[in-house]
Amino acid sequence: MSAQDERVALITGATSGIGLAVADQLATQGHRVFIGARTAESVAQTVKALRERNPHVDGTELDVRSDASVHEFVAAAVARFGSVDVLVNNAGRSGGGVTADVTDELWFDVIDTNLHSVFRMTREVLNTGGMRDKPWGRIVNIASTAGKQGVVLGAPYSASKHGVVGFTKALGNELAPTGVTVNAVCPGYVETPMAQRVRQGYAAAYDTTEEQILARFQSKIPLGRYSTPAEVAGLVGYLVSDVAASITSQALNVCGGLGNF
Ligand SMILES: NC(=O)c1ccc[n+]([C@@H]2O[C@H](COP(=O)([O-])OP(=O)(O)OC[C@H]3O[C@@H](n4cnc5c(N)ncnc54)[C@H](OP(=O)(O)O)[C@@H]3O)[C@@H](O)[C@H]2O)c1
Repeated sequence: MSAQDERVALITGATSGIGLAVADQLATQGHRVFIGARTAESVAQTVKALRERNPHVDGTELDVRSDASVHEFVAAAVARFGSVDVLVNNAGRSGGGVTADVTDELWFDVIDTNLHSVFRMTREVLNTGGMRDKPWGRIVNIASTAGKQGVVLGAPYSASKHGVVGFTKALGNELAPTGVTVNAVCPGYVETPMAQRVRQGYAAAYDTTEEQILARFQSKIPLGRYSTPAEVAGLVGYLVSDVAASITSQALNVCGGLGNF
């Protein structure tokens, strides 16, 4: 096991929203943080900003839909910081609509980006990242409350996130004896660029304004507001700590009471 302040953490989709907050949280906790996303310029800007908090931050371009890109990403992280202790599978996309009108292209891309990616990256980290040979490790998958209940006009997204929860529970049980925990964090509504795009999509589908969609969504949340990326990142920061060793195979909500399951 690496000393806590030397642990190497990989975070996908860390240039925006929840992933960015997780990178900030783990950098603040003293991890060596390696990030990836598709837009190289955003990765470079994010690395630069995070280094003001912790010099041990780096990253590279990554498309979680590509086996080759995932391999290069993990190999680059190992070359930079050494074997991987913590993986946060965060990269994802929204996507849905009237199911009868959903195209193959949309369906497969949502499933590939949100679900296949989690398997692909996790397998790469277990092998190239060396986690399968370690007595300690943490894998956190950012799923969604949509991974526990159906979301209207969100069949591809809900299906992908239910898959992430199932993968998490199976792998968590498989790896439990090894000291590697595997958990899903399930945000409800979190104020990020993705959340803005989702509101735009529903406003168009229901022929109304984004403000009305926001009010409708907020009224469904017992807390009365969206969660913040930092609130989601706080749970991730806890799950990757030593004291969270007995929490595995779980799917934990951060949702202002939206989900009661
Ligand atoms: N916001 C919410 O209300 C909410 C609720 C529940 C769950 N979630 C989940 O939380 C995660 C993050 O969501 P967010 O709201 O923070 O989204 P976001 O603001 O849109 O950020 C998404 C991040 O993922 C990256 N990304 C997207 N596709 C990628 C790909 N194919 N390969 C690598 N990186 C990719 C993006 O950068 P590039 O575009 O440059 O690649 C960006 O860094 C997602 O898994 C989402 O499903 C969000």
